[in-house]
Amino acid sequence: MLIQFVDGLYIVAGVMFILSLAGLSRPTTARMGTLTGMAGMVLALAATIIHSLHMSANDADRRSVGVTLLLIVVVLAIGALIGTPVARKVEMTQMPELIAAFHSFVGMAAVLVGFNSYLAPDGEGGAVHLIEVALGVLIGAFTFTGSVVAYLKLSAKMKSSPLVLPARNLLNLAGFAAFFALMIWLVVADDGSHAPDSLGFILIVVMAALGFLLGFHMVAAIGGGDMPVVVSMLNSYSGWAAAAAGFMLGNSLLIITGSLVGSSGAILSYIMCRAMNRSFISVILGGFGSDGGVVGEARDYGEHREIQADAVAELLASASSAVITPGYGMATAQAQYAVADLTAKLRARGVDVRFGIHPVAGRLPGHMNVLLAEAKVPYDIVLEMDEINDDFADTDVVLVIGANDTVNPAALEEPNSPIAGMPVLEVWDAKDVIVFKRSMATGYAGVQNPLFFRENTQMLFGDAKERVEDIIHALPS
Ligand code: TAP
Repeated sequence: MLIQFVDGLYIVAGVMFILSLAGLSRPTTARMGTLTGMAGMVLALAATIIHSLHMSANDADRRSVGVTLLLIVVVLAIGALIGTPVARKVEMTQMPELIAAFHSFVGMAAVLVGFNSYLAPDGEGGAVHLIEVALGVLIGAFTFTGSVVAYLKLSAKMKSSPLVLPARNLLNLAGFAAFFALMIWLVVADDGSHAPDSLGFILIVVMAALGFLLGFHMVAAIGGGDMPVVVSMLNSYSGWAAAAAGFMLGNSLLIITGSLVGSSGAILSYIMCRAMNRSFISVILGGFGSDGGVVGEARDYGEHREIQADAVAELLASASSAVITPGYGMATAQAQYAVADLTAKLRARGVDVRFGIHPVAGRLPGHMNVLLAEAKVPYDIVLEMDEINDDFADTDVVLVIGANDTVNPAALEEPNSPIAGMPVLEVWDAKDVIVFKRSMATGYAGVQNPLFFRENTQMLFGDAKERVEDIIHALPS
């Protein structure tokens, strides 16, 4: 009876996760979506705890209910003690690396569940179970090292340029072929006794090692500009790792949630690949077919011109249309409130102000949209890249606020560039372009930006928030 109740709670939690994803698809319902997901997680935790206590109470061979409860409380307390300060401290700009770090935990959990499931004395046997264990360990190990590399690259603790080993695609292919051979060996060598043996254990250790190596190698081979796609791919892999753990543990909720995360991550990666004109297959196969491009190629684009805040204020005061294209620098400067303020002031003066958002601007999907929503910029003037790209030719002034790679014409004009082929905001078509940044440094992909040297571009150096505030103060009354 209690088990049916727990299964019922799992289904309700699963439905809440689906509703949560539906809510997260629109900014207006995103808060509700988050709350629904949190409530679903509380329900799922409660159901899992009830299930564990019930198992302890009904099985004389297991530990007592009291000890089980104590272990659960201790584990929850450790998680809360580590998680709470991390979540409180993390800056919005560090979210992708935090997510990558969390994915690595999911991967490692799947590896541990795989080993536990194989070694458990009362565990299931049979070919299907052994295949579940092998796949769970491989996906988990792959997700673990892949996420650690993504974390290191996103937090600039490791070079973001791709690691290009000779015959790297062949190496990957050989790795996967070896895994399938080991999995078949594991199944064929099984004597059907349900008891773990040393050969099986060694095979699983080697499969885990292969997963760790493949995860490291395939993510290290992906260059800076493609990291957003990798983060969402790893998100997807972590979902499949959780689903694999669900199969091993016979836990329907883990299977449902793992599949939800796995498929939504895969859909997001596909959308991002399309937006960035990248081949989905190429990215999931660790940059298969790409030649890596030439990072930081030194080219002489000529001289850049500088402008001061008061001159920008005058330019804006006499403009009839302006487009703001924010990027990662707006996030680091926390300039969104000042930008919202400037927008409101310009609109009050009759300037038609709109925003152009590149799909990978910032460091996480929807990063700019979240910041602008936080600063209460109306949704209807925030447009996607495809919606605004044709309008730049009729725009008086474009304010590029802390964006770099996402407005880089080299993506369209230089076939050897690492960002070649990536669609960008074609801001240079406007009458005047003002670029807000602190120096002439490159953006995330490490590529020089010829936009800064164009005739209609002027650089406004300094912290984006301070410069926007200077413009607000200098606006003629
Ligand atoms: P980036 O190319 O990263 O350039 C940001 C620019 O902001 C830098 O050139 C920097 O120049 C400037 N900046 C930094 N702090 C500033 C401050 N306080 N005030 C003013 N300017 C500041 O930005 P982007 O155009 O948004 O492109 C995003 C890049 O990140 C893409 O390559 C994308 O592939 C990658 N990426 C995206 C994601 C997702 S999911 N969105 C995830 C991982 C990676 P200075 O140092 O000279 O100031």
